[in-house]
Amino acid sequence: MPSTIRTAIRGTILPSDSVVKATDSPPSSPRPSSTPRASPPATGGPRQRGTAERRWWQRPWIGPLALVCVVFLVLSLPRYLTFDPRRSRVPQPENFTFHYPLLVAHILFGSVAIVTCCLQIWPWLRQAHPAVHRVSGRLYVFAGVLPAGVLGLVLGATSPSGLTMRMSSLMLSSLWLITAIAGYRTARQRRWGDHRRWMVRSFALTMAIVLSRVYLLLLMATVLPEPASADPAVMDAWNDALIGNADWPAWITTLLIAEWWLTERGAGAKHKARAARRRTAAAASHRDNDQTPTPAPERGSPS
Ligand code: HEM
Repeated sequence: MPSTIRTAIRGTILPSDSVVKATDSPPSSPRPSSTPRASPPATGGPRQRGTAERRWWQRPWIGPLALVCVVFLVLSLPRYLTFDPRRSRVPQPENFTFHYPLLVAHILFGSVAIVTCCLQIWPWLRQAHPAVHRVSGRLYVFAGVLPAGVLGLVLGATSPSGLTMRMSSLMLSSLWLITAIAGYRTARQRRWGDHRRWMVRSFALTMAIVLSRVYLLLLMATVLPEPASADPAVMDAWNDALIGNADWPAWITTLLIAEWWLTERGAGAKHKARAARRRTAAAASHRDNDQTPTPAPERGSPS
């Protein structure tokens, strides 16, 4: 296949395929400590002030996040729903007949992961419909991340897009699987603080695919413009550099944002709890001082 066509097929130079933007800040509030809890904080109990009582417009990331995911899916999915290998952006590696069916399966499971991930982090749904949250959580893990991640390992190991892309995909698939499994296990163990933290990380890794498309465009607009060459070797090298260098910074970025957010929110919550404890202790000691009568010195007692 001529390399220019290959380039276009891989979708790395199609501007219309990249109308996506970076993920908003991570969504759910982690708990400051990993102390086990008896029940999930937002399932069926009375609404928690400050979290549940906020309206959707006080969480401005939900709408843009859903929009970004929809745009990504609308641009990426349809060509693979034709089940026509000629429409694939990823060329089939030599001696790997099942590459295309596995790629399509990966994309379908990946789409389940993206959609259910958005549902999972939507606070209103978590609080108003905990049963839906549980079903969608299982779908996210078992019909999304696990199959898509295992297939990501296979596709990553055999990727025709160069060593950087291969390494990045293997690393991302592994982290994606590990964080989702840890999130699921901690939910089963009812360790809700840990569950939230693992799921925030898993969410960040799911969103990396979207951010990688943005990086791709940025690279093309800055340090990796399309070469004016018809040489297939030059075009292939450019393609590999573009895809590989857009891929790994994307998941490192989203993971760092998630860790920053978890640390900040955790530290902030701890700080507030400490300050509240200090205020309560100070108020109690003032009350005690005010109420305790000063004992009169006894006559004849040593001063
Ligand atoms: C987060 C972990 C993921 C990993 C490690 C991963 C890995 C891969 C790999 C290795 C390829 C083949 C690319 C190549 O060889 O050049 C691929 C392609 C693809 N993946 Fe994923 N993927 C992940 C998540 C997702 C998700 C959540 C979706 C959502 C639908 C998705 C959609 C796609 C699409 C559409 C392609 C075909 C390339 C394109 O048309 O842009 N992936 N993925």
